[in-house]
Amino acid sequence: MDPTDELEPLVRQARDAFAQATASAELEDAKARFLGKSGLVTQQLKALANLTPQEKKARGALINRTKEAIEAALAARREGLAGAELDAQLRAEALDVTLPGRKRGAGGVHPISLAQERIEAIFGSMGFDVADGPEIESDWYSFAALNNPENHPARSMQDTFYVDLKDSEGRWLNLRPHTSPMQIRYARAHARRYEGVAHMPDIRVIAPGRTYRVDSDATHSPMFHQVEGLWVGGSVSFRDLKALYLEFIQAFFETAELKLRFRPSYFPFTEPSAEIDVMFESGPLQGKWLEVSGSGQVHPQVIRNMGLDPERYIGFAFGSGIDRLAMLRYGINDLRLFFDGDLRFLSQFR
Ligand code: PHE
Repeated sequence: MDPTDELEPLVRQARDAFAQATASAELEDAKARFLGKSGLVTQQLKALANLTPQEKKARGALINRTKEAIEAALAARREGLAGAELDAQLRAEALDVTLPGRKRGAGGVHPISLAQERIEAIFGSMGFDVADGPEIESDWYSFAALNNPENHPARSMQDTFYVDLKDSEGRWLNLRPHTSPMQIRYARAHARRYEGVAHMPDIRVIAPGRTYRVDSDATHSPMFHQVEGLWVGGSVSFRDLKALYLEFIQAFFETAELKLRFRPSYFPFTEPSAEIDVMFESGPLQGKWLEVSGSGQVHPQVIRNMGLDPERYIGFAFGSGIDRLAMLRYGINDLRLFFDGDLRFLSQFR
């Protein structure tokens, strides 16, 4: 009998088994059944031990050929399966490259922040420091230090929000109704730093930030923004205020075609006091006086509360509405748009 034929069924059996495997894992199982440690081919090899040396030679060669045939069949099937698996994976993970891309949403800076950044840059270029301070204030900083004692009628100029907590003097804390407390905080720190120094540098600072009042309509919001300005030194006059503010407002609106008007007014912490109005000489707001700021020469009592001698130091302060400035600059007619969070509005400033 032809010894080749004798093991032929084994090869066929293996081919069938390999063909039936539809995944790599199944194919590896099938391989083990033939070529594994106790697989059918291995069993044949082990049986050689019982043969004579001559029989071994012929039989060994036959088993080797059989083994090679099975290994060849295995390799062919492996390749076939790998190709099929790759095809299946590609089909499953198919992606439609013709679909439009998804954009990453680009954020933008809020118009109030844009205005504030401009203000900081302009005053910064004129040698002013930029300071930040607490929004929850004590009675002293918000009122008393600003020459606005308890029971003084000027307190009713501002409908203040109070916090259900008391300060060290037993008075209710408040949500600062203006940025003016920062005049006191900054000036006192400055005075302390230069105490005993012969030539104290001028105090030149702006303090932008959130402020709060019980007020709500198209031009008032319970939370709004102010920027406080303070310049105190040995001889700082009202004329310096007028020149500085004109410089600022022209830079802010990027035009020299405007006028300022200082309209006499009253604040407990300045004397004399003035409202600052601006009028554009061209553009959509042409010819209307628009109020943008309170201002005045710092009251001697306030200078004293800053820890300074009013005989030696004098200066001015102003408090401007950032929201108002932003509305004028961007042509916005309703303050509430700033706080609604409507992307149709906000995205116009990107
Ligand atoms: N604090 C005042 C207000 O809120 C503005 C102001 C600031 C006026 C500084 C004079 C000086 O209306």
